Amino acid sequence: QLIVLLTGGCAKRVTDGEQVSPDQKIVIKFSHVVAENTPKGLAAERFASLVQQRTRGRVEVQVFPNSTLYADGEEMQALQSGAVQIIAPATSKLGDLYPGWQALDLPYAFKNLDEVHRAMDGPVGQKLAKSLDSKGFMVLAYWDNGFKQLTNNVRPITSPGDLKGLSFRVMINSPVLREQFNLFGATPVPMPFNDVYQGIERNLVHGQENTISNLYTKGFYRVQSYMTISDHGYMGYAVMVNKAYWYSLPEDIRRVMEETMAEVTRWERAKAAEMNETYLKQLKDSDNLTITELTPEQKEAWEAAFKPLYASFAGDIGLELINELQKHN
Ligand code: LMR
Repeated sequence: QLIVLLTGGCAKRVTDGEQVSPDQKIVIKFSHVVAENTPKGLAAERFASLVQQRTRGRVEVQVFPNSTLYADGEEMQALQSGAVQIIAPATSKLGDLYPGWQALDLPYAFKNLDEVHRAMDGPVGQKLAKSLDSKGFMVLAYWDNGFKQLTNNVRPITSPGDLKGLSFRVMINSPVLREQFNLFGATPVPMPFNDVYQGIERNLVHGQENTISNLYTKGFYRVQSYMTISDHGYMGYAVMVNKAYWYSLPEDIRRVMEETMAEVTRWERAKAAEMNETYLKQLKDSDNLTITELTPEQKEAWEAAFKPLYASFAGDIGLELINELQKHN
């Protein structure tokens, strides 16, 4: 059951298949877990303001950042029940809905963002989106964050062997992310995003893996000593809606929102690349972290060291999807 607010403030429940009438104001809650000054946070705001303008206020998209409404592990249920209308979780968090999503978590699955975009805007993205059909979800767009880096407060990490004995927070719902640490004798600790800062501060984990914009905007660098620019994994988002809800909206409104989403997606991808670069520069200019940048040769050695994961997950993820992904490399 989904809630649409009437002009005038009273709430009306819209059930599957029921249409929104022409005079209703449509309020869409967009919930996400990261800070406002991140690529996802800014793109959500941009989408909200463009949609408001283009529908002349008929649609109001309310953005709730920083897990203020729902945290990891709660968002999906909230989308299903109609408590929120748009979420944009990292694709890693969809692994329990369909194991194929984990293909994107395989270390060095992508060497650069062009490869990512070719895959996500092609058959890989389509197949993954289709997997959500049976759950009643629909993917409106794929947004980037970027490549993940490793931080910790024990030692500099230059080879995968240096991971041994350390514990790292990983995103929830992705066995691939867990195994990537187990492989080298490190301990993965799945944890919702909004618990990570305290988790590090309280020594529940030695480190974590994340994109520069996330670790900068959440201040992880303040409680970590070392960072390795490893670019070992990609993190991106599936912008998702409840399918029954989406099709309950008037067609012209949907069209405006879909076109705006496509436009904002192009903007978001450029912004994500720019923000990761800008924040990295700021981290380099500050002396909070000792930064180790892997050379191309070192990255090749890391990639080779992680290769066994491809065989171990071929069954779960499906060889077809892994092969499709590798076509883009
Ligand atoms: C994380 O949990 O580290 C990320 O998924 C947060 C996000 O949405 O970027």
